[in-house]
Amino acid sequence: ERVLLAYSGGLDTSCILAWLIDQGFEVLCYMANIGQEEDFEAAREKALKIGATKVFIEDLRKEFVEDLVWASVKANCLYEGVYYLGTSLARPVICRKQIEIAKAEGCQYVSHGCTGKGNDQVRFELGYYALHPGIKVIAPWRDPTFYERFPGRPALLEYAASKNIPVFQTAAKPWSTDENLYHISFEAGILEDPSVTPPKDMWKLTVDPEDAPNEPERIAIHFKNGIPVKVENKTDGQTVKTDALELFLYLNQLGRKHGVGRIDIVENRFIGIKSRGCYETPGGTILRHAHVDLEGLTLDREVRRLRDQYSQRLAEIIYNGLWYSAEREFIMASVDQSQGPVNGVVNVKLYKGNVIIEGRTSPSSLYDSKIASMDEAGGFNPSDSEGFIKIQSIRLKAYMAQKTGLQAG
Ligand code: ARG
Ligand code: SIN
Repeated sequence: ERVLLAYSGGLDTSCILAWLIDQGFEVLCYMANIGQEEDFEAAREKALKIGATKVFIEDLRKEFVEDLVWASVKANCLYEGVYYLGTSLARPVICRKQIEIAKAEGCQYVSHGCTGKGNDQVRFELGYYALHPGIKVIAPWRDPTFYERFPGRPALLEYAASKNIPVFQTAAKPWSTDENLYHISFEAGILEDPSVTPPKDMWKLTVDPEDAPNEPERIAIHFKNGIPVKVENKTDGQTVKTDALELFLYLNQLGRKHGVGRIDIVENRFIGIKSRGCYETPGGTILRHAHVDLEGLTLDREVRRLRDQYSQRLAEIIYNGLWYSAEREFIMASVDQSQGPVNGVVNVKLYKGNVIIEGRTSPSSLYDSKIASMDEAGGFNPSDSEGFIKIQSIRLKAYMAQKTGLQAG
C-alpha cells in the first residue's frame, strides 16, 4: 500500500519515512516550497536514500500568496488580536497539493509529522478529509507503536544511525520553528516558560529594531479591491514591484531591514492548550497597517463594522483549520464584496520596528472635505446636530437618573 508523506528533510520525518517502510508501506515523499529556507535537492536525495520511491517538490509560493495571504490581508486577520496566522495560512495550500498528488499516484494513505498536542494535526487532517473523504491518515506521533518506540530525540538518533540516515549536525536549537514566506514561528523548548525573554539570536527574519537604520524609509503601497498591486520605494526613488510574489518578498525585505513584525504571545490552541509563541511577520505587518488605513478612507462605516466582526471570525476559522468549510466561503464572499472600494495608495514610513502611516489617497474615497471641514460651513445644516445630540442623550439621562436617584430632565 502507498503512503504520501509530507516530508521536511529533518530528523522526525526522516525517521517516520524509514519507520513507514519498516511497516511494509511503499512511501512517496512530498515537500511543499512555501518560501521556507531549505535545501530541497539535498532533502530529495536524502528521502530517496532512505527508501522513498518518489519525491515531489512543489513550488506553492505563488498560490500561497494569492489564495491565502491576500485573503488574510483583505480581512485584516489576526488571531486573538495579535498573531498573523502565518503557519495556519500555509496549511490549506500544503494539504491541497498533497491530496492532489495522493490521488494522482493512487495513494490510499497520507502521513505527516505533527504532534498530538498541536493545531497542525487538526489543520492538515481537516483539509485532507474535506478534499478527499476516503483518504486514510497515518499520524505516527499519535500512534503508540511509534511514540513508545521513540520516546525522545536519543531514540530517534539511534534509529537514524541504524538506518544510515544522515543527521546534519547542526546543534539542535532549543526551540522549534515553522517557516514560510509569510512568517516564522518559534515555540517549545526554552520558550515554554512564558516569562523567558527570547534570546536576541533567536529572531531570524527581522533585525532587532534597536539595530535598524537610523534613517526611515518611505514606500507607497497601491491597492486594488483590497489587494496590494504595486509597491514603490519613495526613498530610493526607483524600486517598483507589481508581481504578487515579488511585491510581497520585497515588503519582507524592507520589514526585515527596519525590524518590523516581531510578536510574542501566549495563545489558545484549538484543542484547548495554552501555548507560548514568538513570530516574525515582516511584510504581512506592513500590509495590514496599510490596508486597515485605506479602509478608513474608503469603507462605509457599517460595512466596516461588519467586516471587523468577520475579521475575527475568519481568523478563528483559519486558525482552527476550517479553511475548506462553508463558513469560510460565506465569510470570504462577504469580505470580497466589501473590498470593492478599497482602492488607492497608502504612504508608509518604516522606522525602527514601526509602520507609520503618512497619508493616503483613493479614487473611491468616501471622505468629503466640504462636509468634514472645520473651516467652512456646508454640506448640511449644523443646527440639525443639536436635535441629534438631544435624542442620543435620552437613554443616558434615564440611566444616570436611575443610578443616582436624581430626576431625569
Ligand atoms: N502556534 C502557531 C499556530 O498554531 C504556530 C505553529 C507552528 N507549527 C509547527 N509545526 N512548528 O499557527
Ligand atoms: C505540532 O504540534 O506539531 C506543532 C505545534 C502545533 O501544531 O500547534
